[in-house]
This record gives sequence, structure tokens and C-alpha cells, in this order.
Amino acid sequence: MARVFIISNRVAVPDPERGVHAGGLEVALKSTLKRHECVWLGWSGEVKPAGQTQTKTITTGGVTYIVTDLSEEDYEEYYNGFANRVLWPILHYRLDLAEFTRRDLSGYLRVNEHFAAELDKVLEPDDIVWVHDYHLVPLAKELRQRGRHNRIGFFLHIPMPPAEILTAMPNHEKLVPALLHYDLVGFQTDGDAQNFARYLATECGMPAHIPRRIGVHDRTMRIGTFPVGIETREFTRRAERAARSSFVREVRDSVAGALMLGVDRLDYSKGITLRLDAYERFLVANPNWHGEVTYAQITPRSRSSIHEYAQMEHEIDTAAGHINGTYGDLSWTPLRYTNKPYTRTALAGLYRAARVGIVTPLRDGMNLVAKEYVAAQDPANPGVLILSRFAGAAAEFGDALIVNPYDPEAVGSAIRRALEMPLDERIQRHGNLYRALLDSDIRFWGDRFLSSLTGYDMTSAALPASRPKAVVTPTTAPPSMRPATPTEPVAPALR
Ligand code: UDP
Ligand code: G6P
Repeated sequence: MARVFIISNRVAVPDPERGVHAGGLEVALKSTLKRHECVWLGWSGEVKPAGQTQTKTITTGGVTYIVTDLSEEDYEEYYNGFANRVLWPILHYRLDLAEFTRRDLSGYLRVNEHFAAELDKVLEPDDIVWVHDYHLVPLAKELRQRGRHNRIGFFLHIPMPPAEILTAMPNHEKLVPALLHYDLVGFQTDGDAQNFARYLATECGMPAHIPRRIGVHDRTMRIGTFPVGIETREFTRRAERAARSSFVREVRDSVAGALMLGVDRLDYSKGITLRLDAYERFLVANPNWHGEVTYAQITPRSRSSIHEYAQMEHEIDTAAGHINGTYGDLSWTPLRYTNKPYTRTALAGLYRAARVGIVTPLRDGMNLVAKEYVAAQDPANPGVLILSRFAGAAAEFGDALIVNPYDPEAVGSAIRRALEMPLDERIQRHGNLYRALLDSDIRFWGDRFLSSLTGYDMTSAALPASRPKAVVTPTTAPPSMRPATPTEPVAPALR
């Protein structure tokens, strides 16, 4: 069987001493690791002075991890710089927050070259390479320049904005077309895939209709939609158990009235400031709910050395203090706000205990928290999900209370509606949401992507009959792979 090389900036090497690290990419990849022979290559999480960086190989739990340190300069220019001060805001439609410098771009390209060089040392011709996220856009180009003809796929975990936004990025014409060096480029939603296809049409002279296959030199590049999911049934069981834990019971007993829960990395894309505004409007409009509801917001710090993140932390602290100071009293704290990260198990129990899950990003690739909240509910007495129309999950979750996060009054009204929703409506909505979750179960996500990338059946279990989304074209099979019938139809939006 060919090996699958997973390449991403963040690598989750199992380590009991490592604290909780919040982030959807790590969660999504764990299932693929269990199902294929994998090597996972990326950043060690360590930053060292120049000249003292190392690359280590660790084999544990059947997976080989190759992790490389970043120098202080790499960390500043590549991670804090071009990846998180340029690509992250622009791909989240926030041109106003982008801070471009040529120095950061060259640091970004240098680290991509370094990752490619490390990979080049160990890659065999029939290995499959699967690259993840915005940190590593030019990686396939680097590998092709080293003469590598392996199947290489790319998946973008975050949004792909329309061409009008992308073209405002300095040097976009050098960076974005580097994606043509992949064999398959995958997105969370059809909208993201269409935005990319339109960029290729307007900026690279590709056919004006939305293409499903694009000839690039002697290869074919394809675009597909592969919505990330979660391990649905396992997460439900985890939530059932965790809800009985003493931790969750203590939290539940200590809060007044119904619990509303938000869980987000401290990131401007998550819309936390506007959400607090919406909660305040709800409190103003609904004095009858005072003392009867508690909003708990779990917000682990993220990328704190970037100015916008530090500034946002200060703004949220101020808004949280204002809400409690203005509306609370000695017997009721309307908002509980913490920057402490929690394990996914603790979160599973808290989701189940929460009558309302509130997920209102201004823009988000998928948002796994929304999916976890639904999976965790008791089907006989489920809570209600309030979900931003700008989260990727909204494409699958029409039965959530869909809101516009830029309209705090409407979000405030949705909070009241969620708290007052009758049981039969809650059960019906939850049933529909849960079925959507089963369709996008994470166990099949990696297999769908890899099957589409290789053209051969990479499933180790039968694929569900419903909603396959990727494009498959037969290719020359590496000898170790079993041929399969290409059963997956072309994603309708990409025909
Ligand atoms: N998460 C966690 N502990 C926390 C907060 C979040 O383990 O304290 C996990 C959460 O359960 C989810 C992931 O981090 O699986 C966040 O993924 P999501 O797609 O919602 O957002 P991202 O952080 O990737 O933008
Ligand atoms: C999002 C990105 C991931 C990233 C994660 C946490 O989920 O898509 O690529 O790993 O956020 O961010 P961090 O900068 O801590 O890796």
C-alpha cells in the first residue's frame, strides 16, 4: 500500500505533556491517520535561534511524524507574517487587516522550500502527498521543481474569497496560480470552489465556465468540494459519558437558569465582539430572562503575538466586564468568559448541558464546533444551534437558526427564539441536523479526498451512498493500489 504523506504547518504529535491545542485541522486529520499508513510532516511547534533548528522523526501509534523547528526569523516572517497577517485575513475577507511586506513573503517561500526539501529526502515515487491549508500553497510547485511526479493534493480548511478580494493581495499572481501544480485542490464548500474556479478564469485565462478539470502541462488539475465533518456517533457517545462527569455536573449546578455556550479560538474571524453585543441587546429586550440564562464563552488564546489578536482580547475583556457590571448582580453573572482551553471531552459534556449553542463567525471555513454541538445533544431533549450564515457548516445545516452575525439585533432575537423553542420543534430540527452530520462523517472525508486524488479506491470501509462530492478521474495506478470503479459523480456546482 502506498504511504500517505500529510503535510501541514501544525502537527499533533501525541504527547501527554502537551496542553490542549484548539484548531479544526488537527481534529480533522486524526481520522485519516487511523485509516492509512501515514507520515505527517510539519512544524514541531518549537522556535529556535537561527542555526539551532532541527528536524526530528518520531514514530508512535503506527504513525511517523517528521517535525521541523522554525527559526525566530521563520516564525516571524512565515507564521506570524505572511500566513497569519496576510493570507489569514484576506482569505477571511478582511482586506482591512492585511499587512503585506515583501520580507514576509520571502520568509513564507523560504519555509515552503524548507518543507519541500525535508519531504524530498524521504518521498518514494508511489507515495501520495496531501498538503493542508494556507501556510503551504507553493509546496507542490517546490516539489515539481525537484522533479517529483507524485500525486499531490491540497485541501484548504479556510474560506476561498471571490477573485475581487483575492486580487487585492500583492503578488497574488505569483502565489495563487501555484495551486495549479497540485493534481487536486479541495475546498470546504461549493462556494469556495466556485470562487477559486472564477479566479482561474479571470486571472489565468482558464475556460470561463466553472471547470472541473484543467490541463496543466502534462497533468490535469481538478477542483472538488469535501466538507470536513466530525466522528459523529463517537462524539455523541463521548458527550453522553462526559455529561455525567463531576466536572460538567459542577458547571451545570453552578450556573443560573439555561446555559448558552460559545466555543471559539480568540480570533477576529469568530465574531465574538459582535456576539457579545447581540447578547447585550437580548438582555435589554428581555428583562424576563434576567437571572434565567447564563452565557458561557470559552475562548482559548490564539496567535497572541499578532497585534490584532492582542487588541481583540482587550476589546472582548472590556465588553465582558461591561455586560456583567451592567446587567449582573451579586446573585447572577450573565456572562462567564474564560481564555482557558478545554479538552474535547470536557467540551462534549458542556455542549450537551447547553440549551443553546451559539456559533456566529463573520467568516469560517467549516466550524467544527457547530458540528460537535449538534452531535453532543440528547435527541430526546436537544438544544438549539444558532449558526452564522457565513460558516461553511451553514451549507449543510439549514435546520439551525441561521443568522447574520453583522446584525446583533437579529442575533439577539434568535437567542430568545432558541431559549423559548418548543420541544417538538427542537427534536425535529436536531433530527435533520444529525442526519446531515452522518452524511459528512469525518471517517469518509479523508477517503473521499484520497480516492479522488488517486482515482483508486482508498476506502477501508464502504462509502455512504449519499452526497459524495468529489470528482474522480481514472489515472495510472501505483502498483500497490487496488483499482476501483470511479463511483463519485462530478460535484454539481463544478460541472
Ligand atoms: N477546541 C478544543 N478546546 C478548546 C476549544 C476548541 O479542543 O478549548 C477544539 C474544538 O472542539 C474543535 C476545534 O478545536 O474541534 C476548533 O475547530 P473549528 O473548526 O471550530 O475552528 P478553528 O479553530 O479550526 O478555526
Ligand atoms: C485553523 C486553521 C489551521 C490552524 C488552526 C489553529 O483551524 O485552519 O491551519 O492550525 O486554525 O491555528 P494555529 O495558528 O494555532 O495553528
